[in-house]
Amino acid sequence: MAAQAADIEVLHWWTSGGEAKALGELIKKLESGGHRWRDFPVLGGGGDNAAILLKTRVVSGYPPTAAQIKGPEIQQWAKENYLATVTEAAKAQDWDSSLPKVVAAAMKYQGRYVAAPVNVHRVNWMWINTAALKKAGVEPPTSWDDLFKVADALQKAGIIPIAHGGQPWQDFTVFESIVLGQGGAGFYNKVFVELDAASIQSPTMAKALETFRKTRQYMDKGTPNREWNAATAMVIKGQAAIQFMGDWAKGEFSRAGKVPGQDYLCLPAPGTEKSYSYNIDSFAFFRQRQDDAKKAQADLAAALMSPEFQETFNLAKGSIPVRTNANMSKFDACAQRSASDFKSTAEAGTLVPSIAHHMAAPEVVFSGMQNAVSAFFNEGASISETQARLVAAAKAAEVRE
Ligand code: BGC
Repeated sequence: MAAQAADIEVLHWWTSGGEAKALGELIKKLESGGHRWRDFPVLGGGGDNAAILLKTRVVSGYPPTAAQIKGPEIQQWAKENYLATVTEAAKAQDWDSSLPKVVAAAMKYQGRYVAAPVNVHRVNWMWINTAALKKAGVEPPTSWDDLFKVADALQKAGIIPIAHGGQPWQDFTVFESIVLGQGGAGFYNKVFVELDAASIQSPTMAKALETFRKTRQYMDKGTPNREWNAATAMVIKGQAAIQFMGDWAKGEFSRAGKVPGQDYLCLPAPGTEKSYSYNIDSFAFFRQRQDDAKKAQADLAAALMSPEFQETFNLAKGSIPVRTNANMSKFDACAQRSASDFKSTAEAGTLVPSIAHHMAAPEVVFSGMQNAVSAFFNEGASISETQARLVAAAKAAEVRE
């Protein structure tokens, strides 16, 4: 029997220009297969608002077809018995041999796929407006100390050194790059993956916090609550010189017709050249009652993992396909670098999961840490007080288990 039209409702937080363009590729693909797309967008980068709305919907008995859920949180939803399996689609497309092993494992619960991944985002990037740096007569910073020298020169030239949106997830995004840059991948893993109290209380962590606080002097007054893409727009226009953000920012540069290496630079954040903090977008599937809804869900799963979709989607999104051996010939220099660094850091053991993007720790730990980092940055909590709060957040993992 031919596929019947069924509604596909997908909860996501892809509302910026670049994100919407990328999502449009998915909608096109499913609608051409006869399905109806029911959009469920939730404003707010990083997905904190989306997570709250999702819980409300699921608990009240109306789960969407799928929702943007990542990392360890997929296991949590599966454990609570809300997720559906998409075994047939996974077998037909041989997901097991198309995905890196760790990624496949994260998408499965008790050996069966309950989620599908679409990309790999690198988080530890620094986006630079080339003309702004030239105007100030400086080169891209190579260490965090150097960043402050560059920032002083930019300020003198009347350019906002760092574009930032003061929202907890963006604060956490910048902070994780500082920890990675100053402490290295081993230290980062100790703190954010092993949740080791001694490392969290170490002088290295205190220094990262101090550096983080110092970046604040180089942000403008409009920082509080600004959306991340508004900060990216400041760099695109040259009002500001630098943004520390994952490569969804590149989706905005591309959409504005900007060319990497020419109008802007994509460089690893200072000190993180040899490491890679990854963030994988994935969709978890919720149990459906009707057969046509189940069929639509299987089609969605197949669409998300198809090689053509992963190419067109990621060209717009700024990320790279998560499928191994993807053809990268149409991708720009930033994406090519991301793909080769992803491989080389995996081999070197310096590929780390992004804590700020839900890849590293269970939700209780993530949110406790995010709150502590943001309170430090915005409300003037002390370094030692913040370290203690981070340790308390890390301990929440033990309580939960
Ligand atoms: C997601 C990206 C998204 C970004 C900003 C991240 O957590 O992984 O897909 O573009 O948030 O909303």
